[in-house]
Amino acid sequence: MSSRGLGVGLLGLGTVGSAVARAFADRSRRIDAAAGRPVRLVAAAVRDPQKERDAGDVPVTADPHAILDDPEIAIVIEVIGGTDPARDLELGAFESRKHVVTANKELVAKEWKALHEGARLAKRELRFEAAVAAAVPVIAGMRGLGAVRPRVLRGLLNGTTTYICSRMETGKSFDEALAEAMAAGYAEADPTNDVDGHDAAYKLSILVSLLEGRHFHPYNVRRMSLRGIAASDVSGAAARGARVRYLAVADFGEKATKARVGPEELPADSLEGQATGPTNVITLESDLVPRLVWSGPGAGGDATASAILGDVIQIAQRSA
Ligand code: NAP
Ligand code: HSE
Repeated sequence: MSSRGLGVGLLGLGTVGSAVARAFADRSRRIDAAAGRPVRLVAAAVRDPQKERDAGDVPVTADPHAILDDPEIAIVIEVIGGTDPARDLELGAFESRKHVVTANKELVAKEWKALHEGARLAKRELRFEAAVAAAVPVIAGMRGLGAVRPRVLRGLLNGTTTYICSRMETGKSFDEALAEAMAAGYAEADPTNDVDGHDAAYKLSILVSLLEGRHFHPYNVRRMSLRGIAASDVSGAAARGARVRYLAVADFGEKATKARVGPEELPADSLEGQATGPTNVITLESDLVPRLVWSGPGAGGDATASAILGDVIQIAQRSA
């Protein structure tokens, strides 16, 4: 660690990266106190350094390798998203002996083995609490359940689709509700990932992988789109005392785990039926613990920054 504190570099300064940078600007004393040592944001890499941003005064570069090569940086936060160039950058960070913190669920879900192997070989940490349910500490929760046999995991893992369904209940059209979710920073850069279920499938694959202790690839998740939902589906469900929600389910059978994501009708008074906006709900049934529930804001810059900074703080506490 340099005398100026443990250095952090950001790859990406969009909705999530900007919220992380603002948190470093606004609450550095709190972060340092929690970490037990000074932690400092050194620089951020972006696609367009000329773009105006609300991201404190962090220096920006168009060269992500400048972050990987900077000896002042010990922790790289990857919040670019997607697989290319994120995969090579995360693996490059490990090769440069840096810890990696990411919110990139697509990359973690698809490249589980390569990333974990990269971290193992480098003797560095790979942390991704923000990749599932943003602020809700569900990754930590799953890691604490190594002794249980999971039976069913179910819930709302995508904030954008819950937002769309709950806004359609107030009379908004699908397109209006999606536009609102995009403006609020909940949706992915390509919102197809939200409405067609890729995002929920990535998150379900990560949770199943943690519970089973082996990679459960997202192509094993059966996917139905929310795209065809009509106002009449929402009002019809309401007339039956139900709500339409985009549900993720993993059924851990004796022989094989069956996983699916898609729109379903749920009782209006269920936890999922009551969820509105970007709220995520995750319920796990297992043999030792009948029912565990996690819930909270599952999308948005600040909610995601909270989980990312939690990971950074834990690395700072653990590494010399
Ligand atoms: P975003 O707003 O689209 O931001 C992406 C950032 O990456 C932008 O700053 C962009 O630069 C930068 N970038 C793109 N290509 C780059 C490259 N080749 N080199 C360097 N920088 C590059 O995305 P986001 O919403 O912050 O999401 C980031 C990640 O967090 C994704 O993996 C997403 O799935 C995940 N996540 C998002 C949320 C959420 O609520 N938004 C919640 C949890 C997890 P420019 O600004 O110059 O274009
Ligand atoms: N697009 C994602 C969602 C962001 O709507 O849940 C949080 O992962």
